[in-house]
Amino acid sequence: MENKVTYQARQSGKILLNANESGENLSAEMMEKVIEALKNTAFNRYPENTQKKLREAYAAVAGVNADQIIAGNGSDQLLGYLIGKLAGVEGTIYTFDPDFSMYDYYASSYGSQVIKYPCDEDGSLDIDSFIRYGNDQKADLVIFSNPNNPSGHCLSMEEVETVIQGFDGTPVIVDEAYIEFADETSAVALIEKYPQLYVTRTLSKAYGLAGMRVGFAIGQKKNMDALREGYVPYALSTPAMEIACAVLSDPDAVQKRIEEVKVERKKMLEALKQMKQLTVYDSQANFIYGRTEQRKRLCAILEEEGIVIRLYGDGNTFRITVSTSQENSLLMEAFHRFEGEKQ
Ligand SMILES: Cc1ncc(COP(=O)(O)O)c(C=O)c1O
Repeated sequence: MENKVTYQARQSGKILLNANESGENLSAEMMEKVIEALKNTAFNRYPENTQKKLREAYAAVAGVNADQIIAGNGSDQLLGYLIGKLAGVEGTIYTFDPDFSMYDYYASSYGSQVIKYPCDEDGSLDIDSFIRYGNDQKADLVIFSNPNNPSGHCLSMEEVETVIQGFDGTPVIVDEAYIEFADETSAVALIEKYPQLYVTRTLSKAYGLAGMRVGFAIGQKKNMDALREGYVPYALSTPAMEIACAVLSDPDAVQKRIEEVKVERKKMLEALKQMKQLTVYDSQANFIYGRTEQRKRLCAILEEEGIVIRLYGDGNTFRITVSTSQENSLLMEAFHRFEGEKQ
């Protein structure tokens, strides 16, 4: 049990910029829709277990057929399921360093080993070298987030395709939890060509539904049919599916929020890049990754302001969520204080 990776639940705080959630709750108008949907819910019955209505609603968003989708209790559940199915017990999982910590968590629960390819400080990498090393290590499964969590770096669809081709039939999972915030396009367009490709998506980030736990895995129909066998029958509750369908029925509201986050991200990056006491990297997600030699001092200031951000290990890196303009302004005030104070 020494290698068991534990997951630390988030801390509570006044301004939570540590989990890349949407800073805004559903609009009052959407809340009305949600309440209406819940009034018609049979709470006494088990959920519809084929998830048909939800899969159809998301199929229209993803541009695939509903039979190419499995819905899960957050994309986390599907990532765990896919890792177990595709890498198998004691398989070798190949990913980036840094990348999403839950890959280690699930791998450790299956006894799989995780091999990591070290990315540059800004999250970029030499794709050919990544492929060479992964093949040398005999990877059973390649998995990475795109855009990358935590760096915010995003591979182009062409680069993703180069990776898929470089592993000659080995399953590849592209975790697109943040793709809605990216300028690059989704790897879903490659699914028809590559049976070994699986893409995961979530409603927790751009759609503002982290609390409902709704995510998706997308792949070729025959693969998804195979995955449906052995999948937990009632992965999603009826309210979760109803609420997800209500939110998916208003794509304009979601798009508006995405555009707002992108504007905020640009503004914050410009200001943070002026600061001498830290380095930040361009991001295609709803967060910004950075490093500072003065992390302790930064944390003390943020703590005083009741702001919670994500820290990595004992080093000098941090990640901040791009939230509402109001919360971002408070964060930036704290950063300005950090920059202005004597070391
Ligand atoms: C890269 C990445 N993938 C997947 C997830 C899981 O999202 P959820 O389980 O809420 O769908 C997260 C959550 O932070 C993430 O950062």
